[in-house]
Amino acid sequence: MTISNSTALFILFTIFTLLHLKPINAAKCHPDDEAGLLGFKSAIKSDPSGMLTKWIPGTDCCTWPGINCLTENKRVSTVSLGGQPDQPKSFLSGTISSSLSKLQFLDGIYFTNLRNISGPFPGFLFNMPNLQFIYIENSQISGRIPDSFGNSTRKFGAISFQGNRLTGTVPSSVSLLTELTQLKLGDNLLSGGIPDGIRKLTKLSYLSLQGNQLTGNIPDFFASLTNLRILELSRNKLSGTIPPSIATLAPTLGYLELGHNSLSGKIPDFLGKMRALDTLDLSSNRFTGTVPQSFKNLTKIFNLDLSNNLLVDPFPEMNVKGIESLDLSDNNFHLGTIPKWVTSSPIIYSLKLAKCGIRMKLDDWKPSETYFYDYIDLSGNEISGSAIGLLNRTDYLVGFWASGNKLKFDLGGLRIVEKLKYLDLSRNSVFGKIPKGVVGLEKLNVSYNHLCGQIPKTKFPASAFAGNDCLCGPPLQPCKA
Ligand SMILES: *[C@@H]1O[C@H](CO)[C@@H](O)[C@H](O)[C@H]1NC(C)=O
Ligand SMILES: *[C@@H]1O[C@H](CO)[C@@H](O)[C@H](O)[C@H]1NC(C)=O
Ligand SMILES: *[C@@H]1O[C@H](CO)[C@@H](O)[C@H](O)[C@H]1NC(C)=O
Ligand SMILES: *[C@@H]1O[C@H](CO)[C@@H](O)[C@H](O)[C@H]1NC(C)=O
Ligand SMILES: *[C@@H]1O[C@H](CO)[C@@H](O)[C@H](O)[C@H]1NC(C)=O
Repeated sequence: MTISNSTALFILFTIFTLLHLKPINAAKCHPDDEAGLLGFKSAIKSDPSGMLTKWIPGTDCCTWPGINCLTENKRVSTVSLGGQPDQPKSFLSGTISSSLSKLQFLDGIYFTNLRNISGPFPGFLFNMPNLQFIYIENSQISGRIPDSFGNSTRKFGAISFQGNRLTGTVPSSVSLLTELTQLKLGDNLLSGGIPDGIRKLTKLSYLSLQGNQLTGNIPDFFASLTNLRILELSRNKLSGTIPPSIATLAPTLGYLELGHNSLSGKIPDFLGKMRALDTLDLSSNRFTGTVPQSFKNLTKIFNLDLSNNLLVDPFPEMNVKGIESLDLSDNNFHLGTIPKWVTSSPIIYSLKLAKCGIRMKLDDWKPSETYFYDYIDLSGNEISGSAIGLLNRTDYLVGFWASGNKLKFDLGGLRIVEKLKYLDLSRNSVFGKIPKGVVGLEKLNVSYNHLCGQIPKTKFPASAFAGNDCLCGPPLQPCKA
């Protein structure tokens, strides 16, 4: 009797204690979540910036840096770890442990710029019941994407493995991930074609496959991708023409990047009807013919890069209010002068018009705003006169390239602003002495001009000074006493 009484008392006491302990227990996260996160931590071999040092067993994992929990059940919902690109120690080395699959309520993984996370494609993530967002960007994940990766769950809203070392093809099972709004597999080593099944991803707003080794045509599948805002396919080996169904994206498409491929044919007229277009990159392809006159209607374009194609005159007189960056270099244009719509831009920072058939006096070019200019490339034209006035106005210029023109001025009078890193005036008729200010530049080329006198002490090779009238001193021959 007494025993059962004391047993009953003990049970009551235990229940009482448990009830009172409950708030303390509740302050801790779920043991599965803690175990899953500590398992992840144990596969990290090096954490020089201490991103994970506060992930301590027995403490509430919901308070750990990078962890978010659901309010209703205190289960871990997101893990976000980011390295700072400019801080050398801010990265993680190691692999992604499959113990993360213990986090049954995980909704999003955001691993950005961790730089040294390696190992194969973490296929286990695709079997997690609640995971919808995977961002594992700028690391060293390698190997193939499993063929079945689209099969397991169809709820994914975003998948990004941008900036890793994935090889093989983009599996056709991607077509099953119909809830995707973002698919980013850019800057990997993927090969093969762009899967036609992407046409089924009708919610897609961001498709990035740039910087791979993809071959074949761009599928003509855009009629069903009516939400697409960003299309990045640059730096692949794509061939064929720009598919006509891109025209259906006119209301939405803001970024169209197709540069550095082997695309050919004419630039289609409908591109000029894409009123939302902010950035158009068709550079380094084999586009022929003229730029459509419809481009006059691209009033909101900020970044236009048509360089390195086989395009011919006449170039349309654009109505854009403020172009920010323009590159028309290396085509068969004969622009004559720098276009008015460029000169009048209040926000332009990068102007590249190399080999554009410009014949003018540089002194006559009076850009209405020079404050934002970082880069000016006018190489290989027939530009005469002096660069002194221009470089006196561009306080923040980083690079000025004007080789192979007819510039004729006293280099000694050129202002070298503090920000300037690159200066190429080779193959002109520049005379006088080399100013001391060039010492701080990263690259200089004043070869094949009419310069004279002692070269200031610099690190530049002899080829940067060759072919002048009477330059002397290292790296050329010593000056005569
Ligand atoms: C990156 O990770 C590899 C393998 O884990 C390791 O050998 C290498 O030292 C790491 N690099 C840095 C900079 O920590
Ligand atoms: C994936 O799904 C496709 C189509 O439903 C099917 O043919 C294929 O066998 C599946 N693969 C795996 C590995 O489950
Ligand atoms: C520019 O757009 C207007 C209005 O949509 C149209 O009438 C005109 O033909 C277009 N201009 C060019 C050159 O395509
Ligand atoms: C450079 O600009 C200043 C004022 O902005 C002006 O006083 C000076 O004459 C200019 N120098 C040259 C060489 O144009
Ligand atoms: C300078 O320009 C000349 C002619 O354009 C070229 O041959 C030479 O390699 C260049 N040197 C450097 C250091 O850029």
